[in-house]
Amino acid sequence: MTADVLDAADPAALDRAADLLRAGDLVAVPTETVYGLAADATDSAAVARIYEAKGRPRFNPLIAHVDGLERAERLVELSPLARRLAQAFWPGPLTIVAPVKPDAGISDLVTAGLDTLAVRWPDAPAMTGLVARLDRPLAAPSANRSGEVSPTTAAHVAEGLGQAVALILDAGPCRVGLESTIVAVEGERAALLRPGGIARADIEAIAGRLEAPASIPGAPRSPGQLASHYAPKAKLRLNALRPEPGEGYLAFGPDAPDHETVINLSPSGDLAEAAARLFAALRALDARVDRIAAAPIPDTGLGEAINDRLRRAAAGK
Ligand code: TXA
Ligand code: MG
Repeated sequence: MTADVLDAADPAALDRAADLLRAGDLVAVPTETVYGLAADATDSAAVARIYEAKGRPRFNPLIAHVDGLERAERLVELSPLARRLAQAFWPGPLTIVAPVKPDAGISDLVTAGLDTLAVRWPDAPAMTGLVARLDRPLAAPSANRSGEVSPTTAAHVAEGLGQAVALILDAGPCRVGLESTIVAVEGERAALLRPGGIARADIEAIAGRLEAPASIPGAPRSPGQLASHYAPKAKLRLNALRPEPGEGYLAFGPDAPDHETVINLSPSGDLAEAAARLFAALRALDARVDRIAAAPIPDTGLGEAINDRLRRAAAGK
């Protein structure tokens, strides 16, 4: 099988995708963060196919994608703080982990048996259009083989999972380019489980100081946060002011060397631009060199999530 690639803006393509999802098949769906590998979150056999296709070694909980606050509230218990966060950042790159409702109807393979569920309303018409067509939430991890760099284009998905999915919906490069920020909420307390497409400071403006994951009993550190993740095949050296001979270079800012194995994430030093280009740049250098050096990235704003992904990529397989 080789995946068909269809335009995500074409309603007929969404109808075809919805038919596949209803039949328990997988579809790769673009979001504003990264491409997701979607399955009906209420269908355990379909969700099991996600793990199989990704080659995930064990069952990590998945994010349930919804098309509105109302559907989110059918699935999880949103505290007043959780609702304020949802109102501030949805639709968008925020995932809220909250107590799952007993009658949510979500497969246990999505929660991995936890009593919480991760929910996200993405700013992504294809994903929300599919949820609306099915009238069900969609479970979707990033559409890459386990441990590999997350996909930000349809071509990236085809490289890794082209034989494992029937259909890839194409909406061009992802606007944000990093996965969602994951926050666990318990009452009026919130913990940051994964830095991502919304900066910590923006969330803290609403939630107050975010706690460390371990301090909230109902909020285990995201089990999927393996130290080694997003790993290119090349060896990655961090905080490098310049490349050594033979190294590719992930540059940032105006003073970067100009060379065919240098990719500048943002010549103007814009962290949002760097975030959007990071995964594609890692893939492009990985195809050309065996060793990659990465420039220091400021740890402010979206830089926290960029540095998190770079550290995981450097941890190797
Ligand atoms: O931007 C994104 O979040 C993308 C797009 C496709 O929406 N999805 C994504 O999914 O990054 P994935 O599976 O690669 O990462 C989901 C993370 C995992 O690290 C998992 O451990 C964590 O969410 N997670 C899910 N449910 C959880 C729960 N109940 N408690 C704690 N962590 C949870
Ligand atoms: Mg992932």
